[in-house]
Amino acid sequence: MKEHIQALLEQTVSTLKQQGKLPAELEPRIQVDRTKDKAHGDLATNLALLLAKPAGQNPRALAQLLVDNLPASELVAKTELAGPGFINFFLDSAWLARQIDAMVADERANVPAAEQPQTVVVDYSAPNVAKEMHVGHLRSTIIGDAVVRTLEFLGHKVIRANHIGDWGTQFGMLIAYLEKLEQENPDVLSSGLSDLEQFYRESKQQYDADPDFAERARNYVVKLQGGDAYCLNMWQKLVDITLQHNQAVYDRLGVSLTPANVMGESMYNPMLNDIVADLQQQGLAVEDEGALVVYLDEYKNKDGDPMGVIVRKKDGGFLYTTTDIACAKYRYEQLGADRALYFIDSRQHQHLMQAWTIVRKAGYIPDTMSLEHHAFGMMLGKDGRPFKTRSGGTIKLVNLLDEAEERATALLEQKQTDLSAEEKAQVAKRVAMAAVKYADLSKSRTTDYIFDWDNMLSFEGNTAPYLQYAYTRVQSIFRKAGVSADALSGSVAIEAPAEEALAQKLVQFNDTVKSVADKGMPHLLCLYLYELSGAFMSFYEACPINKEGVSAEARASRLRLCAATAKVLQQGLSLLGIDTLERM
Ligand code: ARG
Repeated sequence: MKEHIQALLEQTVSTLKQQGKLPAELEPRIQVDRTKDKAHGDLATNLALLLAKPAGQNPRALAQLLVDNLPASELVAKTELAGPGFINFFLDSAWLARQIDAMVADERANVPAAEQPQTVVVDYSAPNVAKEMHVGHLRSTIIGDAVVRTLEFLGHKVIRANHIGDWGTQFGMLIAYLEKLEQENPDVLSSGLSDLEQFYRESKQQYDADPDFAERARNYVVKLQGGDAYCLNMWQKLVDITLQHNQAVYDRLGVSLTPANVMGESMYNPMLNDIVADLQQQGLAVEDEGALVVYLDEYKNKDGDPMGVIVRKKDGGFLYTTTDIACAKYRYEQLGADRALYFIDSRQHQHLMQAWTIVRKAGYIPDTMSLEHHAFGMMLGKDGRPFKTRSGGTIKLVNLLDEAEERATALLEQKQTDLSAEEKAQVAKRVAMAAVKYADLSKSRTTDYIFDWDNMLSFEGNTAPYLQYAYTRVQSIFRKAGVSADALSGSVAIEAPAEEALAQKLVQFNDTVKSVADKGMPHLLCLYLYELSGAFMSFYEACPINKEGVSAEARASRLRLCAATAKVLQQGLSLLGIDTLERM
């Protein structure tokens, strides 16, 4: 709708330019916003205020000129001037009713697929080998997956890229330690290694304490990098066992990643020599005390000198940045990406900017492809400090999910339901995973996020249980009415203000989904669904359905509004990776 009004205004501006009533060089950014107060219509624009100065005209007179030249549209019932020169648009309720009828009939809930589908690489989750996934990876995984689902729903070709940390000097030590464990127990991998953190810790201890071991470890690094079969085999075992651990977490959370989506650091390793040689040939990388360094004017160090980014160390080794240069290049050249979205915590921002500045300077990626860091803040405990166990360790994801299930089970125990014990257990699991995911998704990702069990499991406020409950409410209306949501008769007629408010909210779904895809911000969809549920609850209070005295037409119309609500809630939650329940 916003887009439609925007297009109308664009047309108006270009007509006025042709007629010489506006300066030809004006290229205004036309903004249309939802009004806060219904008395001011549904949508409004400040276009006249924006143009008044450059056009040398009085804003109100200009607003009038725009309104007079606005092309006719079935959406707009009337327009009004307000204040110093705002234009308010009142939408037509007959049009609105037709939209809801279309929504009930359309399996995509009136969200058209993108006209120009893009190839989009989404870099998310990306835990490290021989380390347990921890809460820090949770944010990237959950937020990235919601954006992936949304992009796919819009018809884009999405390539999920799980950029796991599977390369580096630590592997010498890890291989040597795995070797030691296997010598003690050949079956150690199949029977155990349940605790990767512990494995990592122990191998580090061994490395620090035992010079022979350390010597062997260093030797293995060199061999691994040289492609030695034994070392590669040991390395592969470590990768595989880690992927198994991760996959269990993904499956439990309903995250759409599979082992096929792994494109780890090691994948880019064979490309690094050529890239570094090319950077050097282009004169971008220069030798400095044995290392190869790219100096970037864009980034200054403490002394105000261009910052040096090392792309190859003195010992010939490559770094995280070199890998990300190769990675971006690969995503353009080999994957044909139009966009690459990176869901990585904000502390890595400078790292990415440096890698990408080099990528652009070297001409590896044209301006037409966008590289986007969708950064997020840290996960904090209720005390505002980094989220840790009581003893200060990192919280393992598995333990966190267990606790969520325990808490959800206890919570549902207190509720009066007619569910069997088995159904209850199922519901508890789904509510638990939904709550953990939604708590993260619903906050603007750029800020730090406070993890709070009580909030996320509440049935009130912007939470998963509240939305899941709203959905079951709609389903129970259909059960009571004895009809099925996909076999409804009649048509929508909007009369009561609560019906209009609900319908207005419903038709905003399309715009909301699009902005999640554009901005990589799922919290916009969460907020929208929360507001939609609120509009539904008010509607349900004000407009009875299964009561005596309600006319057949009104009942049919209201049931259609319910059906559209259920459809949007279900579709919206599924884009967030959250299950709906028929009852709870
Ligand atoms: N493995 C990294 C970490 O745990 C994240 C990788 C993100 N992706 C990238 N292309 N750098 O911090």
